[in-house]
Amino acid sequence: MKGMRHLPPEPPGSDITAESLYLNRRELIKGAALFTGTATAVGAGLQLLSRRPSGGDGGELLAPPPAAPGEAPKKARPRGPYDTDETPTPYEDATTYNNFYEFGLDKGDPAENAHTLKPRPWTVVIDGEVNKPQRVDMDTLQSWFPLEDRVYRMRCVEAWSMVIPWMGFPLAGLLRRVEPTSKAKYVAFTTLMDPKQMPGQKAATLDWPYVEGLRLDEALHPLALLAVGLYGKVLPNQNGAPLRLVVPWKYGFKGIKSIVRISLTETQPPTTWSLANRREYGFYANVNPQVDHPRWSQASERRIGEFRRRPTLPFNGYAEQVAGLYSGMDLRENF
Ligand code: MTE
Repeated sequence: MKGMRHLPPEPPGSDITAESLYLNRRELIKGAALFTGTATAVGAGLQLLSRRPSGGDGGELLAPPPAAPGEAPKKARPRGPYDTDETPTPYEDATTYNNFYEFGLDKGDPAENAHTLKPRPWTVVIDGEVNKPQRVDMDTLQSWFPLEDRVYRMRCVEAWSMVIPWMGFPLAGLLRRVEPTSKAKYVAFTTLMDPKQMPGQKAATLDWPYVEGLRLDEALHPLALLAVGLYGKVLPNQNGAPLRLVVPWKYGFKGIKSIVRISLTETQPPTTWSLANRREYGFYANVNPQVDHPRWSQASERRIGEFRRRPTLPFNGYAEQVAGLYSGMDLRENF
């Protein structure tokens, strides 16, 4: 992603070397210590509420997420209908190999720098084309919904991927609660704008704040999740605390972090990476092995922690659930 207007071009995903991962691993210890500090600091208000397993047929047992250093292994839980049975990426990788440009451009920067973000107190505004606009404290917002576990694949547009056990609640529940008007066609999301907490916003790397959007029917899809945790823990700052979007059939950049505003709109909202480069990053950004990025192939990906590349699946393996949202659409044009 790096290098749209002001930066050197990012090498294609295939060039993200084992060495860069190795270097990130060296930062791991520092990152883990930092996360522990953050989690302690935010304290009681962030206690994850009683979690409900995400439904499911109850039969299969899901491999538990790997325990963080020094912790007892977690118990397996029933596998839910939206869970992949693929092995979760190690916690250390998911929390030290990040894209969060508000804290720097290199993968290890967010884990190192995001301690300046204060995820509490935190207010989220939900407004626009809704009957019941809200300005709500994050803890109150979270208390409205039971938390669900969802193990999702995540495919970055840079052609690497992970498997992440998220905790959160369906975006649809929140949208229904505020009652979209008949004019609402899209949902626009905005990240916090505060260069003191997010020093990367002092540089003109992107148009700040980071913004993203979905069509309303996409946003209402049961796979679309608002995450507040991962691996059974409070969401680390570098992963988008306290609230981030997860849309697993789309490239990772749609998963906007540290959300402060959710607005329902009549027209398609601007999105950060399309503003940066309209030719390379579209509004839809559905994972599509047949539509290459202008500078690299999207046919395959490197799963973090694996040596060989694996084929990329249409809609990141969620075609059965979501392809219907796009029937009749030209997905090359609407990339
Ligand atoms: N959200 C904000 N606010 N700023 C960002 O730079 N990066 C995006 C997305 N959300 C980004 C963001 C990109 S490019 C990706 S791939 C994912 O976050 C990375 O999420 P992760 O670091 O939790 O893996």
